[in-house]
Amino acid sequence: MSIYDYSPRTIAARVGTEVDTAYHSLGVPIYMTNNYLFDEVAQGAELCHSTDAGDCYTRMSNPTNNELGRALAALEGAEAGLPFASGAAAFSALMLTLLKSGDHVLSDNATYSATNYLLTELLPKFGVETTLIDFTDVAAVRAALRPNTKIVFFETPCNPTMKVIDIARIAQVAREAGALSVIDNTFSTPFITRPLELGIDLVMHSTTKFLGGHGDAIGGVLVGPKTLIDQIWNVGLKNLGGCASPFNSFLVLRGIKTLEVRMEYCCKMAAAVAEYLQGHPKVAQVHYPGLPSHPGHEIARGQMQRFGALLSFELKGGMEAGITLMDNVKLCALAVSLGEANTLVQHPASMTHWYVPQEIRLQNGITDGLIRFSAGLESIDEIIEDLERALSLV
Ligand SMILES: Cc1ncc(COP(=O)(O)O)c(C=O)c1O
Repeated sequence: MSIYDYSPRTIAARVGTEVDTAYHSLGVPIYMTNNYLFDEVAQGAELCHSTDAGDCYTRMSNPTNNELGRALAALEGAEAGLPFASGAAAFSALMLTLLKSGDHVLSDNATYSATNYLLTELLPKFGVETTLIDFTDVAAVRAALRPNTKIVFFETPCNPTMKVIDIARIAQVAREAGALSVIDNTFSTPFITRPLELGIDLVMHSTTKFLGGHGDAIGGVLVGPKTLIDQIWNVGLKNLGGCASPFNSFLVLRGIKTLEVRMEYCCKMAAAVAEYLQGHPKVAQVHYPGLPSHPGHEIARGQMQRFGALLSFELKGGMEAGITLMDNVKLCALAVSLGEANTLVQHPASMTHWYVPQEIRLQNGITDGLIRFSAGLESIDEIIEDLERALSLV
C-alpha cells in the first residue's frame, strides 16, 4: 500500500517518504542533478520522449519535482500534476500551450498582477482576444462567452477584496460553452476548496504561498487530467522552460506536510482579526468571506471548508490612516506576498496594484486606503494587540 492510498491529511504528512527506493530515506530527497544515466540507447530514446518511464533531463522532469506534482494532484483529486518555477510560470505555460491566434479567453477582472499582465498585454500581442469582467455576475459571464472562447479563468477569493465567485456555476457555464475552466486556487489550497470536485477542469497554484508556507520557496503547479497535463508538459514546460528547482520543490513538499494544521490556525487568526476589526470604531469596512456581512458569504459557506487566511479592511481615515497603521505595526510585517508563518500587511494601491489605473482600481473595490492582511502563525492575541496599538495612533 502506498501513502497515496490514504486520506489527503495522511498523504500530505507523508509526501516524499516513498521517493528514495535505494536508501529509503524518510526525508524528501533533493535530486540536485540536471541529467540522468541511461543503461542503453533504446532506454535513453524512450526517456527523452516521455516522463512516464523515468527522467532524462531536469527541465523536463526530476524525481523531487515529480513528487510535488504527484502530491498536489492527489490533494486536489486530479489525475496528474506539473510543477513550475513559479505561479506566473505555470500560468504562462498553460496559456501559451493551449491558445492560438484567434482564440478568446474570458477572465474575471480581479486577478494577480502577472496574470492580469499576460491577459491584457501579452496574449493580445499574439492575436488572442481577452475579456475581463466581474464573474460574480454569472449571467454576464454566460453573455460574454463566444464561439471561440477556449479558456474561462478566475481566482476565488479574489485579491485583495476577497470577492467570492461561485465555482460550480462558472464551471457549468464554461462546460456548456465548450470552454476549459481554469481556477487559481492559491488563496484557498486543497484543504479549503477542491475545485475539480466542483466541475473545474484545471487548477493552478502559486506554491510560493500557503503550500510552501514559510516565505522561502518560489514555485507553481498545474493539476488536472493527464492528457491536458501531458500537453502542457510537452509545450509549456519542456519547450518554454520554466521548470521548478528541485530545492524549491523540496521546500514546498516540506511545507505541504503541515499545510492543513497551518491553514486551520491561519484561518482561525483571520476570523478573529476580522471580527475584532469589524467592531473597531476606526474601521470603515472589513472584507472577509467568513463575515455574514460579506456579499459572498453564502457562496463561501458552500464551497470553502474554512473562510481563508486573508482579509482586507478600510479605515475611516482612508489612505492617511492606513499608512499610519502600516507604519506603526511592530509584529505584523509590512511586506507583500502571503501565506507564510509571518503575519503580513500590505497596501495594494501603492504596492501590489500600483499599475492598475485608479479608476479601474476603484471600480473593483481596491480603494486607496485598503489594507490587506495575511494571517501567520504568531499568537492571535499578540497580533490583535499589535493592531490595537497601531490603531490607537491613527
Ligand atoms: C493568487 C496568485 N496567483 C499567482 C501568483 C503568482 O505566483 P508567483 O509569485 O509564485 O509567480 C500570485 C503571487 O502573489 C498570487 O497571489
